[in-house]
Amino acid sequence: MSSIKPQKTHKIIEQKIEFLVPGMELARDACTSDGKILASESTIISKALIKNLQNWDIDKVSIIAEITANPITDPNIQKFMNSYNQSVTTVQKTFEDIRQTQEVPIETFTNTADDIVENISATGNAIDQLYNLPQCDDYTFRHSVNVSAIAALIATWLKFPPESVSAIALAGLLHDVGKSQLPTEILNKSHRLAPKDYELYKTHTTLGYDLVSKIPNMAQSVLSGILDHHEREDGNGYPNKLTSEDIHPYAKIIAVADLFDESLTINCDTPGALSPYSSLDKLRQDIYSIDAKTCITFTENMMNFLSGNLVALTNGEQARVVFVNKDKPSNSIVQQSDGNVIDLSETADLCIHYIIR
Ligand SMILES: [Fe+2]
Ligand SMILES: [Fe+2]
Repeated sequence: MSSIKPQKTHKIIEQKIEFLVPGMELARDACTSDGKILASESTIISKALIKNLQNWDIDKVSIIAEITANPITDPNIQKFMNSYNQSVTTVQKTFEDIRQTQEVPIETFTNTADDIVENISATGNAIDQLYNLPQCDDYTFRHSVNVSAIAALIATWLKFPPESVSAIALAGLLHDVGKSQLPTEILNKSHRLAPKDYELYKTHTTLGYDLVSKIPNMAQSVLSGILDHHEREDGNGYPNKLTSEDIHPYAKIIAVADLFDESLTINCDTPGALSPYSSLDKLRQDIYSIDAKTCITFTENMMNFLSGNLVALTNGEQARVVFVNKDKPSNSIVQQSDGNVIDLSETADLCIHYIIR
């Protein structure tokens, strides 16, 4: 699992000097009008080089932009999505059974978690494709599979051993199993819950813990991952208002995966309301209430998957992400089909709205 990397292809694009960013790579020699080479092909652009190019009144240079593999034609991504949809169907059926029986068929969940880990190991670069799917009634089930997959990825990036990655994937799959005991009206509300309903909603952590703890020999770490996933570093979480050192490491990972996925998929009435770019912005704002190391590891690795996507901007226009802004991913540098490059961090009201592909 440790080798999960996004599949990229590289494309040469013409970039105006004012949109160069240190770290970009020159695709061809940068020359003056009389042929003097200022920097050769493959040079990594520095602030000093940008200044030098400006001094020579050079208008554009060729740079290498990373383009993510096209998910429509990539057979591995098709395979990933088929396996993902199979996991969602299994979880949906199993949650419905638990509602009737109050018994958790642990073998089904363990097998599904193993499938998710195997799938993510083979094609982790497909993770951002999960957010191009239509969402609605099956939100809870998709969310469980998404959190399991993302938590497994984070655990891998944090270099947990394989057996822990599997246990974290299982805890992620089961983290909201307590919701199977709540009225569906509460779960299907896409708007804010009334205070009374919110108190009821919060019991899903202890309900889930109680359900899973009935299973003989269930690992305490998996149980803690379920019980503690809404605890927060500053003690403002639930159900036990734990603070940082008392929150189980599995729960810290699940909390990050949960927050990321929730802000992307909860609004089933307005699909695409938050892109993975904005969700990463939001996570970075929440860094004081979630585990900082987990959050930073996740956001920095995820950014590698988000370069090259075709996106819709908030003004409705389309553009390709050519350079991800690490401080605020929704304000990355994008290029439109006419070649126009926009640094969204320098535009007042414009940012990435959602991924087209
Ligand atoms: Fe939850
Ligand atoms: Fe959740």
